[in-house]
Amino acid sequence: MDTTKFKNTYINTKNYEKLSEKEKEKFHKQLNKLNFDFILNSILNNKQGNISPINVLKTNEIEKNKDSYYKVGINALKEGKIAMVSLAGGMGTRLGSNSPKGTYNVGITRDLYIFECQITQLLKIVKECGNWIYLFIMTSEKNHDETVSFLKDKNYFGYNEKYIIFFNQEMSPTTDFEGNVLMENNYTISTSPNGNGGWYSSMIKEGLMDIINENGIEYFNVYSIDNVLQKMADPYFIGATILNNVDCGAKVIKKAYPDEKLGVICLENNHPSITEYYELTDELRNSKDEEGNYKYDYGVILNYLFKKASLDKIATVGFPVHKVAKKIPYINENGNLIEPSEPNGYKYETLILDMIKLLDTCLPYEVIREKEFAPIKNLHGVDSVDTARELLIKNGIKL
Ligand code: UTP
Repeated sequence: MDTTKFKNTYINTKNYEKLSEKEKEKFHKQLNKLNFDFILNSILNNKQGNISPINVLKTNEIEKNKDSYYKVGINALKEGKIAMVSLAGGMGTRLGSNSPKGTYNVGITRDLYIFECQITQLLKIVKECGNWIYLFIMTSEKNHDETVSFLKDKNYFGYNEKYIIFFNQEMSPTTDFEGNVLMENNYTISTSPNGNGGWYSSMIKEGLMDIINENGIEYFNVYSIDNVLQKMADPYFIGATILNNVDCGAKVIKKAYPDEKLGVICLENNHPSITEYYELTDELRNSKDEEGNYKYDYGVILNYLFKKASLDKIATVGFPVHKVAKKIPYINENGNLIEPSEPNGYKYETLILDMIKLLDTCLPYEVIREKEFAPIKNLHGVDSVDTARELLIKNGIKL
């Protein structure tokens, strides 16, 4: 056995010899498939460059140009130039449900699934523009089958099956804080999806470029699964991004208070960038412009529009791998399953925000928080099922 690739508390002991031939075979197959460089090259936090404010397209300016934005946006949708990419490969560990997040039922007196909220919204635009829009759904090994069978069972909530394309992202090994690889059972390495930054390279690897090129897709609207008020395929946002001729557009909201936990849009070494809330120094967080407004006051909501031609230019560039402390169940050297109540190790992820940093231009596009941002990260408290339900009700949706 090649143990030079990793240290591990279970498999490096005499336990390896206890495995059956079949188990050894499965173990080696997985070992060969996994990318351990991901662990070796990982970083804990980004090294920050020179941060400066970025111009945000605010709601009052959007209002002034809304007709021209709409015209350009709806035409691009009609011509089939815009595809949706739903990022649904995450594990949703904070929510604590074992099922894919999109299958979560937020209804109270009736069923209302997260996928249903988002597909219903997309169907409105399909109706408005008069043709089907490609919907690519990124899943991971851990939730692919359940996601596919759930949507099939629900008859895709009325969406045209021919326009829904699933693709799988890759997995990466997990480790304890010392870098020892964790095991899920006595012959399986514990893995987790490799982050939301790899969506484009996964699409390429999964052979989707033919469909994309044959259908003349020029932009990808990429969004997270966990926002039940997500407004994808928004003609105004699409029009503004196209007319401003930028590499990407990013929907942003004004922060509710300076230290709200949102990734802040800014410039870093003159490139568009997103600084995570924990990377923003107190000085930057509190700095104000001449008119007394906070300089770093707009956060991203994980709804981006990327120009395909710009992505192709950066497709082969490697993104930094972030290690993220999480609670990871594992088996110890005695083969007992441990389910930690506190973070006990790292998952290794590339992040979509690092994709933005590689691009030259980005248009931050302000949207109204109460209408577009109801994230579900936790069961209760901040960004939870409870807060999302309140916001759905405020938006007139019966639960
Ligand atoms: P989060 O970073 O909130 O992660 O994902 P998560 O997996 O949903 O939840 P926690 O952190 O385990 O509680 C933001 C968006 O990125 C997607 C998620 O599905 C969500 O839409 N994502 C995240 C992926 O598609 N793949 C990943 O590997 C990670």
